[in-house]
Amino acid sequence: MHGVWPLTAERGDDGEVSIGGVAVGELARAHGTPLWVVDEHDLRERCRQYREGFAGVDVAYASKAWCTVGLLQLVDEEGLLIDVASGGELHTALVAGVDPANVIFHGNNKSVAELARAVEVGVGRIVVDSFDELERVEAVAAEQGRRAAIWLRVTPGIDAHTHEYVRTGHDDSKFGFTLSLGLAEQAAVRAHELAHVDLLGLHAHIGSQIFGTDPFVANAEVMLELLARLRDEHGIALGELNLGGGMGIRYTHEDHPVEVARYGKAVLEAVDETCARLGLERPRLSVEPGRAIVGPSTVTVYEVGTIKRLPGLRTYVSVDGGMSDNIRPALYEAEHEVALASRGEEADREPMTVVGKHCESGDLVREHAPLPGDLRPGDLIVVAATGAYNDAMASNYNRLPRPGAVLVRDGRVRELVRRETMDDLVRRDVPLRSSRPG
Ligand SMILES: Cc1ncc(COP(=O)(O)O)c(C=O)c1O
Repeated sequence: MHGVWPLTAERGDDGEVSIGGVAVGELARAHGTPLWVVDEHDLRERCRQYREGFAGVDVAYASKAWCTVGLLQLVDEEGLLIDVASGGELHTALVAGVDPANVIFHGNNKSVAELARAVEVGVGRIVVDSFDELERVEAVAAEQGRRAAIWLRVTPGIDAHTHEYVRTGHDDSKFGFTLSLGLAEQAAVRAHELAHVDLLGLHAHIGSQIFGTDPFVANAEVMLELLARLRDEHGIALGELNLGGGMGIRYTHEDHPVEVARYGKAVLEAVDETCARLGLERPRLSVEPGRAIVGPSTVTVYEVGTIKRLPGLRTYVSVDGGMSDNIRPALYEAEHEVALASRGEEADREPMTVVGKHCESGDLVREHAPLPGDLRPGDLIVVAATGAYNDAMASNYNRLPRPGAVLVRDGRVRELVRRETMDDLVRRDVPLRSSRPG
């Protein structure tokens, strides 16, 4: 099948889709629906593509895309570092057994408690996001009698759209030190004065679902120019540069992302040219893709519940999940390819509106999904590229239990995330009186 589908997804002679050698019908019977099915081969392959495409560069997985203990163990096995953006993601990485030295800690408002844990366990780098945080890291490290290795998050004034970018004069963002306002330089000077902080480098992330190489190249150039300016004007020599994540993936057949190797080559060539021009040594580089590592590996399996045909208007297909397991269509008008998976198509395709089961008209899975006219309740459909920012953003809206996730490979199925139960749904609730049995 490939294209938007995981690498091992294929349609059997009977038309049923299998992934990792396991038929979706079998997975649905054993684990229920909705279900996230993760193609282990696909996921490992993408980790390898990044390591090869960015040879000599540290690749960190941005765990905000999907953060579970098993997933982090797998990505860690593939030699990627782990980027976390909260104390909860850090905790997950530690429970997964990731070496804290391989963790990069982000976030625009890390609490004292989060910073204290990060310093205590010795995370590799803390990416400081503001002046307040800089002082907070210093205080936390001083209190523990330790030193914190930090980068500064810079807002480089590059506004990346999917195909182009613009260099804006100044950048209005909640993240980082705004370059055009001189804040990045001020922060570097201040960090340099602090006794318990080791300023080692800079970081800049310019956006997500970016398809061209130009914005990344521009980001590298701007950041290297800043490194040179810090050296020349302030005597601060920094040897590390993280160029962020944001590489685009295929959600639909209309998406054409850049291959990893081409992206790596473009960035590394630009880095080397710019370093030569500025008389800089190539800094130790890192990138931190999230979506591009985990997104394409996964499909969501839903069961079709009802089909409503409104002649002259549209056909609604309701499935047994929706915005609680994939908020992206409602939040960003994102589109994901959809296909019938439990059998082959026997009728011509018609555009159908696939919706979830939530009490919200915006609870969309896919508008104009080309599905066969004989689609019926009980059919299973798969939604492509749901590994990133699906479970990570899932909720219990309408008190739907969150789905489980399984990892499939060579006919073997391993549970990655347990499906929530009805009891899980009331676990946090505190009754005001003894409840009636039932
Ligand atoms: C600092 C940082 N790094 C990496 C990422 C990962 O982005 P993506 O999943 O699009 O690669 C993000 C996403 O928001 C981010 O904010």
